[in-house]
Amino acid sequence: MDQQSRRTALVCAQSERACDVWGHLDMATSETSFPRVYDHGQLQRVVEGVYYVEGEHIMQHVHFPRGMTVINEDGALTLINPVRLSPEGEVELEALGEVKYVLCIGCHDMDAPYYAHRYAPTFYALPGRASKVEDVRDIREGLPCRGKLGLFPKMQSTWAEAFIVRDDVLITCDSLQNWEPERVKTNWLGKWLLPWYGFAGKCIFDKFLLNHLQKKGMSAGDFKSDMALLLDVEYKYLLSGHGYCVDGTAKECAAKSFDRMFGSPTE
Ligand SMILES: [Fe+2]
Repeated sequence: MDQQSRRTALVCAQSERACDVWGHLDMATSETSFPRVYDHGQLQRVVEGVYYVEGEHIMQHVHFPRGMTVINEDGALTLINPVRLSPEGEVELEALGEVKYVLCIGCHDMDAPYYAHRYAPTFYALPGRASKVEDVRDIREGLPCRGKLGLFPKMQSTWAEAFIVRDDVLITCDSLQNWEPERVKTNWLGKWLLPWYGFAGKCIFDKFLLNHLQKKGMSAGDFKSDMALLLDVEYKYLLSGHGYCVDGTAKECAAKSFDRMFGSPTE
């Protein structure tokens, strides 16, 4: 097995493990049955009514970023890609309004049970997501907040993930991420390891996810076709499930990234 094949095999193995961790492993504290709070920043205002929190997660000693988007419509808060906040963070969140809705547009649902317990919001998710929460509405039937839901049609059979466009903002989970090792929340091990997995650069399409989906039978061409949908919508800001806010130039960054990874969208 050559070096690239070994790397791909390792990525696939790690991907299986990561998905299991995101979905099913509770890193519970001794005080609660919920995953603990990880380090995170303050709520940052991105555009009117839209906020972002840069959070962190730790897996096998690797620190990596995880982000939550908050939409505020007249004091009714919608959380997308939920991340549990510290007590201080919750005070900040509650100062904005009431947590009414939680949306799981990808596999970031490990903190969904905590939010169900803490705020009893209404959950919206794609089929199979937020599986530890009861009474989850199908997000495909309508969003509880203003914005347009986009689906990845070829991915739906193997992986449930969606995206949301609201004004100038694109909100994703894993499909389009934003990593620069010197900027995102990580540690020395992450700075060394994550670029090796392909997590490096602004607005990058998720090679980790591609490898995972290929293992489940999805072709690279179908993945490219789904990701090209993110070039068909208009936005300036990217709020991903991983990274930090890309301010103002997200669409241009995504187009360059697509070209580097896939070539022309029409080829
Ligand atoms: Fe993720």
